[in-house]
Amino acid sequence: MIVAENVCKSYQNGRTPVLKGISLEIGDGELAVLLGASGSGKSTLLSVLSGLERADGGRVNVNGEELTEMTEKQLTDFRKRTVGFVFQQYFLLPHLTVEGNVKLGAHLAGNRDYGREIAAVGLEEKRNRKPAELSGGEQQRVSIARALAKNPKLLFLDEPTGALDEETGRSVLDYLLKLQKERRFTAVMVTHNPGIAELADRVIRMNSGKISETYRNAVKKTAYEIAW
Ligand SMILES: Nc1ncnc2c1ncn2[C@@H]1O[C@H](COP(=O)(O)OP(=O)(O)OP(=O)(O)O)[C@@H](O)[C@H]1O
Ligand SMILES: [Mg+2]
Repeated sequence: MIVAENVCKSYQNGRTPVLKGISLEIGDGELAVLLGASGSGKSTLLSVLSGLERADGGRVNVNGEELTEMTEKQLTDFRKRTVGFVFQQYFLLPHLTVEGNVKLGAHLAGNRDYGREIAAVGLEEKRNRKPAELSGGEQQRVSIARALAKNPKLLFLDEPTGALDEETGRSVLDYLLKLQKERRFTAVMVTHNPGIAELADRVIRMNSGKISETYRNAVKKTAYEIAW
């Protein structure tokens, strides 16, 4: 369970307030979808909830662990043990192949089995290519496979379908939901696509660093039923 209480975060020594008192709860095994205009603080919130960055105020508690009280070393260890992250900018390692990047994700968590993820994102035939030899959408799929291969307890996805065409996007989301059912991890996904909110257990909308709306879906649609 992820619990945030009155989380505040600013950049440039307080001159750029970005998160202005965020409180939320995301239950175990849930899929939460985070919507909001560009610049509203979605990526910053993911960073703080995942322990990549520290809140300036308030608290973040994940599965009983108080992130706001951890040392740098404890936070690094927490991320390694617990978190998978699909970054908005992918952050693939340029000198490694598709397989190398995904394998790295798997090995971080002591997993040997990562072929399934490469196949699921449709990149088996390109497994020996390096990121520079892939399209943007293909790089995005490598980044998704890498995060899933780590088999994390918590998965954070920042615009994971932003570079994907509709068909690929639906198939990747379908796989994600299938894995989530199987492994019961908790996922928080940022998107600009309001149709994707219909997949979620919980929808959170941000506006200028605050939560403007949050609700639960009584019925969840599948990746092939949502509007795109
Ligand atoms: N490292 C930083 N230093 C200074 N300002 C930052 C930094 N990171 C983010 N910001 C500012 O914080 C605000 C929120 O950024 P954030 O990346 O969280 O937005 P977002 O909701 O993810 O937007 P988008 O949909 O465009 O990805 C923006 O105004 C941005 O300029
Ligand atoms: Mg962002």
